[in-house]
Amino acid sequence: MMEKREHWGSTFGFIMAGAGSAIGLGNIWKFPYITGINGGGAFVCVYLACIFFIGVPVLLSELALGRASQRGPIGAFGYFSRKSSILPKVIGGFGLGLSAALFAFGSNGLALMVGLIGIAFLVKGWSVAGFCCTAVAFLILCYYIIIGGWILRYAILAFAGKLSFATATDATGCFLGMAGDGWLSALLTIGFMVPCAGVCYFGVKKGIELASKIMMPVLLVIIFVLVIRSLTLPGASKGLEFFLKPDFTKLTTQGLLEALGHAFYSLSLGMATMITYGSYLPRQRNIFSAGLWIVLLDTCVALLAGIAIFPAVFAMGQSPAAGPGLIFNILPLTFNAIPGSLGWLWNGLFFLLMLIAALTSAISIFEPGVAALMEHAKFSRHKAVIVTAGSATVLGMVICSSVLTWERIPGVEALFQTLTGACRASLFEQIDYLCSSWVLPLNGFAIALFTGWIWGVSRASRELYRRGVPATTLERTEKIRSLFFMRLSVSFWSIFIRFIAPVLVLIMFLYAAGIVKFTK
Ligand code: PFF
Repeated sequence: MMEKREHWGSTFGFIMAGAGSAIGLGNIWKFPYITGINGGGAFVCVYLACIFFIGVPVLLSELALGRASQRGPIGAFGYFSRKSSILPKVIGGFGLGLSAALFAFGSNGLALMVGLIGIAFLVKGWSVAGFCCTAVAFLILCYYIIIGGWILRYAILAFAGKLSFATATDATGCFLGMAGDGWLSALLTIGFMVPCAGVCYFGVKKGIELASKIMMPVLLVIIFVLVIRSLTLPGASKGLEFFLKPDFTKLTTQGLLEALGHAFYSLSLGMATMITYGSYLPRQRNIFSAGLWIVLLDTCVALLAGIAIFPAVFAMGQSPAAGPGLIFNILPLTFNAIPGSLGWLWNGLFFLLMLIAALTSAISIFEPGVAALMEHAKFSRHKAVIVTAGSATVLGMVICSSVLTWERIPGVEALFQTLTGACRASLFEQIDYLCSSWVLPLNGFAIALFTGWIWGVSRASRELYRRGVPATTLERTEKIRSLFFMRLSVSFWSIFIRFIAPVLVLIMFLYAAGIVKFTK
């Protein structure tokens, strides 16, 4: 039997859960590094512009779509699309035409994906966009839990004082040993999946909201402690300079698109989570201010992460690296070497910070699958959680067996080779590439088009500002006073969601999929 839709208990709880989704590994291991190499403060300015002009409108659209329909992505798109509209048929037909052209040019993988989406649009209409959001959330979950498992191990090792390495080579050896050991990775993956599924098992209010209300303040305290420790190290200023000194000569078109892509990823857009979290909002809450709080927290934590990491890295004589290299090789060396006998504590706090960030994000990407099973297969929450956890763990195990190379699954490599021409180094990288470069921007494009043109900006904006009927005179005066700002921001929002966001997100897709290239 379908259960009654659950709701957040408070706006604070919703903001903590939303910020928990947005604040993830992207903030801590990707943002600081791409900022450093793309012109520091100059890149931060561009990133903030992307967040403000594209991220905020799309985030508000996702939250409004979910809240207005009180459904997850598949139901939400279906709920607002008109049966008589011929647009899905036009999109489907266009997709098939594009697919044929891509086959002719030899891009078989892209052609297959576009062709399948085209057919699905012809048959099922806009719900397909909701399905793509939910499917990509599930796929990201499958490899995110592997990284979560590694972080879990490093956090335990750090607090036990066993994460000290003499050289960067030792640190790299330790990481590669763990990642190359399929059984160990699989065990760690399960260790990370259990608390993640456990939280969702208890539901929206008693599970996700409660866990976020506990974990997010702890995360904020830890990051402030690390920032203070890092900034008070001798030689910290060089790191700050690397991270924040504006250098406009280093800004390239690629850097701009990287900023846009990261703004998107950082706010967890296009991956079903914000629509699903929005659908748990009761009618009387104001989405606009809650959405802005989520953006503010996400951006501040990204900046604080850079301020916690780079001064320490430079003060300890290390050089910054990207992605896993920074987290698993450079940072254990860095924090452990901090003078005094507390190296283990700084290391432990850093990995605890990462663990919390990864857990709250993984929970948010776990929930759309659960919501879809509850809504469309009429599962109970408990059954939906068990099925989602079980299937993600099984697929996670297959990915675990080939985190570094395709060696253990040569057949799958051959399949990807045929479909996409060239493959990435492993199944893990291949899925990450497909999700973040192809599917996420396409989903964002669909969300912006749908809200701006199908659902319509006037209906969407009414949903954004919906509040309880003002009860007191003071509330009424406040409402009138904020009306002017409301109108102003609605017109601003509607221009961005209808025109600017779809165009920029489409360019981001073409660039990320390698169809459009820039020399500078
Ligand atoms: N906003 C998240 C981050 O910056 O890491 C994106 C995310 C990735 C959310 C993976 C959830 C997830 F499982």
